[in-house]
Amino acid sequence: MAAQTFLTAKEADVLKKAPAVEGVLPAIHERWSARSFDGREVSAEVLEKVFEAARWAASSGNEQPWRFVVGLRGSETFRKLLESLGGFNREWAGRAAALILGTAATRFSRNGAENRFALYDLGAAAANLTLEAAALGLTTHQMGGFDQEAARKALGIPAEYALGAVIALGYRGEPAELGNESLIERETTPRTRKPLSEIVFGEWGEAAKL
Ligand SMILES: Cc1cc2nc3c(=O)[nH]c(=O)nc-3n(C[C@H](O)[C@H](O)[C@H](O)COP(=O)(O)O)c2cc1C
Repeated sequence: MAAQTFLTAKEADVLKKAPAVEGVLPAIHERWSARSFDGREVSAEVLEKVFEAARWAASSGNEQPWRFVVGLRGSETFRKLLESLGGFNREWAGRAAALILGTAATRFSRNGAENRFALYDLGAAAANLTLEAAALGLTTHQMGGFDQEAARKALGIPAEYALGAVIALGYRGEPAELGNESLIERETTPRTRKPLSEIVFGEWGEAAKL
């Protein structure tokens, strides 16, 4: 039987990228959530830039509620985060250079009041992080599929911090190296989005006239 051929990393990248729309930031066009990593490490300098981008996100009351726990592959933190992932995510995320857990303080530091926007703000910081990573030629993959309580316990995260997603970060690898056909298929299928008319309204439910 002839060996099956899969798209190369470069071909998959072309297929996955959002269509370029003039005036939209290049990093938005570049970013997509890959699952194949080439195993390369990420330098401290690059990691610092990625977190610097997260640091400058807007937040309610400038609380900056986000706290990130980062584990480099080979470290105990990486192992603990990997172990907390659901089986599907564990299949591929172990080749990432780093696993990052985003958390957010659920109370304002100035008065102890509940911060209803803590996870909203963490999401904004995570978006900055993923876009900066894309601009630096890295891929990120956010995952909600992990055991929150197991991660909290293993990493000693206090109860007053809500957990967001685990983010796998690294350099993209060859889809074929994912080994599993269903993962390879996901890696080489075009991305889709709802049209603007379904998500931007002038009046509720009616497409805005842009
Ligand atoms: C909060 C959140 C949780 C996610 N959880 C998972 C997950 O557990 N496993 C996974 O493979 N992808 C996960 N994803 C990735 C999404 O499936 C992906 O972002 C979406 O399909 C859009 O694709 P794109 O990021 O390439 O644009 C998650 C993304 C986000 C933002």
